[in-house]
Amino acid sequence: MSEPGTPPRPEAVEAVFPGSADLATRYVELLATTGVEWGLIGPRETDRLWERHVFNSAAVADVVPSDARVVDVGSGAGLPGIPLALRRPDLRVTLLEPLLRRATFLTQAVALLELEDRVEVVRGRAEDHRQAYDVVLSRALAPLPRLLGWCLPLTVQDGAVLALKGRTAQEEIDENNRDLVRQRLSAEVVTVRAHGGSEPTTVVRVRRVV
Ligand SMILES: C[S@@+](CC[C@H](N)C(=O)[O-])C[C@H]1O[C@@H](n2cnc3c(N)ncnc32)[C@H](O)[C@@H]1O
Repeated sequence: MSEPGTPPRPEAVEAVFPGSADLATRYVELLATTGVEWGLIGPRETDRLWERHVFNSAAVADVVPSDARVVDVGSGAGLPGIPLALRRPDLRVTLLEPLLRRATFLTQAVALLELEDRVEVVRGRAEDHRQAYDVVLSRALAPLPRLLGWCLPLTVQDGAVLALKGRTAQEEIDENNRDLVRQRLSAEVVTVRAHGGSEPTTVVRVRRVV
């Protein structure tokens, strides 16, 4: 069985997940065991689950408005939707994932973490989903044009698409600037951190221009 690697200091976990540090720890253990066994997480990721995956995901909480309805498109093993839900009890979160094994893992994770009252798992593709959300979230989903083609139809008129991207996020915006303007969209890069010492998370925020 894999070990989840060196855990961060308990104060850091408590600072990122106030009141739910135990649940976040249980989630990391699930990623390191079932997540790896089922092929959802690479075996070499176990040493960096906290920083690279869970804290990286939880950081997006800073740009999600209060009481928002959120969908995590292509949630995979629950990233970023599950860390976000653990950090922000005010949110209602849908984890949207087309692949059976991943959707099964998500259902088990939501039950284990006792999040069923405000986190639902939907097995399906974004382009077939028919709901609208305040925030349409994704991480490592697709290049910006395809991502927006999937995510914008799921966004309420004054909502936002938040895409967790790598360091080339601004280049991606610049390359697609003409299409963004044509679609009357504004896009910006926002950098957030789960806590003072953690790696930055790069978020592309896209909204409709009113
Ligand atoms: C690279 S994985 C990223 C998983 C997770 N967000 C993460 O950061 O670890 C991309 C995920 O998107 C899902 N996906 C692919 N096409 C999709 C679509 N059309 N609608 C919704 N999800 C999709 C895949 O099944 C996969 O789980």
